[in-house]
Amino acid sequence: MPTVHVASHPLIRHKLARLRDKTTPPPEFRKLVAEISRGLLFEATKDLRLAQVSVQTPLMETTCERLADRIGLVPVLRAGLGMAEAMLDALPEATVWHLGLYRDHATLKPVTYYNKLPAKPDMDFALVLDPMLATGGSAIAAIDILKKAGTPRIGFAGLIAAPEGVKALRDAHPDVPVTLAALDSHLNEIGYIVPGLGDAGDRQFGTA
Ligand code: PRP
Ligand code: URA
Repeated sequence: MPTVHVASHPLIRHKLARLRDKTTPPPEFRKLVAEISRGLLFEATKDLRLAQVSVQTPLMETTCERLADRIGLVPVLRAGLGMAEAMLDALPEATVWHLGLYRDHATLKPVTYYNKLPAKPDMDFALVLDPMLATGGSAIAAIDILKKAGTPRIGFAGLIAAPEGVKALRDAHPDVPVTLAALDSHLNEIGYIVPGLGDAGDRQFGTA
């Protein structure tokens, strides 16, 4: 069964402290989201497949490897946008499929309002991006949509998760590996991650 990987790198932990700080303004918050996301990208894509390729170095011809998988980055709007932009810089071969989901404040259930997936995705691996895995409803819904569209392999990358969300995601989609920057204590009574960072969309886009 695929693992839940929580990053332990000191640079990620250092940047998370600034990300969580309520005095960190949106420009710095966005920069931190990007930097942490680039740090998570390598773990989240560690099972990508490679194909052999012949390369002529200044000294000789040698056998190297290139990516063989076609990759889709799937940001969950709004908050996944900052993660997607950063990862696309490092992985320009990827295509980006936007999924618009918001969490109904009363029920905490995800509501889909935008879906830019092609009818038949020609991708080998899709990485769902959402900074916050709270109840897990949004991530589960995004992965449901990708599976229904026939995506062969799927991963999830997030910044901060609650144990409740990780469990729900693992129960619903045990085949999907999860990469996180932090696993927090619990959800509060209104479905926010504690200690968390507040509302990731509002803090990125200054809409609080
Ligand atoms: C936030 C977050 C996730 C969702 C997580 O989005 O970015 O998509 O909540 O909660 P869940 O695990 O309980 O589903 P939100 O609904 O606030 O939308 P926004 O990004 O547009 O602000
Ligand atoms: N969405 C957020 O942006 N933050 C939380 O803590 C939970 C859901």
